[in-house]
Amino acid sequence: MSNIGSYDKRAKNFDWNIAEKELDYKDGDLINIGWYCSDRICEMGKADKMALIWEGHAGKAKKYTYNDIRLTSNTIGDFLRGLGIKAEDRVCLFMDKIPELYLGFLGILKIGAIAQPLFSAFGDESLFVRLDNAQTRAIITQKKHVSKIRKIIDKMPYLEFIIVVDHDPSKPLQEREIAFNLEETPNVENIEIHPTKAESPSVLHYTSGTTGQPKGVKHVHYSLISQYLTTKWVLDLREDDVYWCTADPGWVTGTSYGIIGPFSLGVTQCVLDAGFSADNWYRFIEQYRVTVWYSAPTAIRSLMKAGDDVVKKYDLSSLRHLASVGEPLNSEAVIWSEKVFGKPFYDTYWQTETGSIMISNFPGMKVKPGSMGLAFPGIDSCVVDVNTYEPIKETGKVGLIAFRPGWPAMMRTYWRNEEVYNKKFQNGWYIPGDRSSIDNEGYFWFVGRDDDVINTGGHLVSPFEVESALLEHEAVAESAVVSKPDFVNMEVVKAFVNLKPGFEPSKELDLKIMNFVRKKLSPLAMPQEIEFVDSLPKTRSGKIMRRILHAKEWGEEIGDTSTLEDD
Ligand code: WTA
Repeated sequence: MSNIGSYDKRAKNFDWNIAEKELDYKDGDLINIGWYCSDRICEMGKADKMALIWEGHAGKAKKYTYNDIRLTSNTIGDFLRGLGIKAEDRVCLFMDKIPELYLGFLGILKIGAIAQPLFSAFGDESLFVRLDNAQTRAIITQKKHVSKIRKIIDKMPYLEFIIVVDHDPSKPLQEREIAFNLEETPNVENIEIHPTKAESPSVLHYTSGTTGQPKGVKHVHYSLISQYLTTKWVLDLREDDVYWCTADPGWVTGTSYGIIGPFSLGVTQCVLDAGFSADNWYRFIEQYRVTVWYSAPTAIRSLMKAGDDVVKKYDLSSLRHLASVGEPLNSEAVIWSEKVFGKPFYDTYWQTETGSIMISNFPGMKVKPGSMGLAFPGIDSCVVDVNTYEPIKETGKVGLIAFRPGWPAMMRTYWRNEEVYNKKFQNGWYIPGDRSSIDNEGYFWFVGRDDDVINTGGHLVSPFEVESALLEHEAVAESAVVSKPDFVNMEVVKAFVNLKPGFEPSKELDLKIMNFVRKKLSPLAMPQEIEFVDSLPKTRSGKIMRRILHAKEWGEEIGDTSTLEDD
């Protein structure tokens, strides 16, 4: 029997106070995610239970019990407080998936500061715009990433502390840099947990839109209520599970379901901080006897590509439940998973802004390959008309996904960008910006995004950010960035570039431009292909029409071009 039991029964009598009761929380009480994820589990008698099993690139492993994560997060929190970090100060985590990232996250929350995780593959420009928007006061990082911060430090007077967790003492530290080695710092037995309440800010995650700079999605400590219950009912985590979430905490899945969900349930989780290889992933599952696995379609497609024979080399019989998020999970991947693992991947749908799973295939329920499943109990959802925002009554008709605001993990605003935040609400609904239809049993069928954001391998890339970076290259006069199809990543970035006079298209220039974007933004945002063109399609008012280029790449109808410049 799954944790959720009967979906219909749960949906009928739903109230978020089911989670509040289990977490011993009452309206108005103090609530602190850092405390809930470590101290509380120890108080429940599970101090010696394994919390985190970490394995790095070279096979090096570290293990932490719940008492260990309680103490180490205390130690980091205490250190930050000693520097003068106060409640609501932004503290950025800019690290690979090393233990300090997980423990630092909890430590920051314990002192009431706001955790701002950023993907460690970000280049200096991506890093700068996000730190600048948040006016980040401290950043915790590794020595391998310090050079990117040094490049932009002069533009960031508000960034007072650059904390390096693996500093080599034989090398000099530069301006504002501080060495902090967790293993050499005595554990702090007790710290005063900041008296955060439901609406106290907790996490700031940055997400990309079609236009403008990335938006800082502000979450609060009360998000725990949704994250706890969705982890329990959708991922079906139980007392003796060994859970593996493959997402990086630089993105929301890696925090909501890679830290907060599993730790608040007191479950053991494993982390693999190594690049992808099918052999290594299967070996990891076999070695740690992983039971619940939360991953993403791109990873699943990469495993499919590696073939069925490699699966047979390993004993994967420990696997009990598989789930996926981040991009459309194609039915072939679900069918393949049933064939090789003996169970399907259960798709889940949500966003950085929703903070927790909104639509999913629930354990025990019929999986329709290709569908995202049903709305989580208590979530009032529908698809609405693109123009009127009125709910669509006909089954199977495509509209915009819409949720009635009010679930606990819903974002509270976009950091310093209230105007764009307000635009996400129409006719009383929160509109995530995705198109879908709903069938006669209430299952959602994803159709596509309603904007130009590129979802490459589950990571959202803004065409605007890539175009802005391209414009900074000396050879680029104009550019337009769209997606093109890709078997593994579903879509990848493609740039159309119009060169300045004096520059000629060449393979060498092509690579130089790609590399320029990779360094500035990230490997994900780097165009996989550059097409040099003499001109770009524009509207009469001079706006570049990405839609036309996009349609060409995907072999789709171009549609109405009546506003084109030279039609
Ligand atoms: C897309 C990741 C299809 C969607 C948790 C959404 C999906 C965006 C699915 C959020 C899914 C997420 N099927 N598309 N199951 N899950 N998406 O903010 O476009 O990084 O709006 O959050 O990913 O991406 P984000």
